[in-house]
Amino acid sequence: MLPAQLQDRLTQFPRLPLAQLPTPLEPLPRLTAVLGGPSLLIKRDDNIGPAFGGNKARKLAFLLAEALNQGRRKVITYGGLQSNHARMTAAACARLGLEAHLFFFEKRPSTLQGNLFLDALLGAKLHFIPFGSGGDASMTLETTNRLVRWVSAALVGPGAYFMPVGGHTVTGCLGYVDAAREIHEQAVALGLDLARVTVITAAGTGGTLAGLLAGFTLLGSPIRVLGIDVGKLWKAFPASLARLAGELCAALGEVHTFRPADIPLIEGTYVGPGYAVLTDASRTAVRLLARTEGILLDPVYTGKAMAGLMDGVGNGRFTPDDTVIFLHTGGFPGLWAFSGLETGD
Ligand SMILES: Cc1ncc(COP(=O)(O)O)c(C=O)c1O
Repeated sequence: MLPAQLQDRLTQFPRLPLAQLPTPLEPLPRLTAVLGGPSLLIKRDDNIGPAFGGNKARKLAFLLAEALNQGRRKVITYGGLQSNHARMTAAACARLGLEAHLFFFEKRPSTLQGNLFLDALLGAKLHFIPFGSGGDASMTLETTNRLVRWVSAALVGPGAYFMPVGGHTVTGCLGYVDAAREIHEQAVALGLDLARVTVITAAGTGGTLAGLLAGFTLLGSPIRVLGIDVGKLWKAFPASLARLAGELCAALGEVHTFRPADIPLIEGTYVGPGYAVLTDASRTAVRLLARTEGILLDPVYTGKAMAGLMDGVGNGRFTPDDTVIFLHTGGFPGLWAFSGLETGD
């Protein structure tokens, strides 16, 4: 389908103007020179939307429009302590006059830092339930969502709009189907050889990745996408993402079947000891982008995704004939919850 047709089909879904779109696609000349491989570009989804922004603005634009259409007054979601999705939900709900309930399945920390501090400042109701943070790959994303939906509804009461972790629904991920269209059109306008272009994104709940994959598939675009897993969080993760990508295509009127093996995800390799735990490579990646281009990454998501990109240049996955677009998904408030990132030269 043509980009204009995809854009047209997306208009059947209500959307709030939370994100300033299109986001810029900028060259990274100094990083390209330092790494000495493919030509590198960055897609600036990092500061779109309220309260420091990030990729969740594209998902929340669809999700909160649905909540308002359904007449909901309360919104429930959950995530890790440094969840950017939780922080952006808090901010968007404040702007819309909705009550945000954020669930964290960990002990309340003695001081609220980074995103947690912002959640409190934005007036969200914070619920800390020390069941264990989960996300240890013992459960699928779907089972985890079902359990949390049940527990949170019991505490908040009936009638709230429930958003899965990371805004991971068909409605939310339409935002990244549209982002694929945006990237495709920008790449065409820049005259890039689309068959040599790869978009790299961090994969937490994988909705950004599934949305981009569905979008490029619907467009018949030769642009590839590659997700870098940041946490080994979910059981049967590629199977969940294959289902979601198929559902996204179906929602937009086309049947495409994805198998788990079709999901372009590097699972585990760049995670290190676990979700939200720094690795030497992610520290180096955060520092290198800061010092070559003056752009801040975050330690939990984009630092690990950039570590995957850098390794891909070093190991020959990407060659000088390729173009790699790094999708900056935001998250830098998380920087204030980690120490020691600035040292280590
Ligand atoms: C900054 C940042 N980058 C990337 C991601 C991953 O996005 P997704 O959950 O769609 O995989 C998230 C959230 O999970 C995030 O907060």
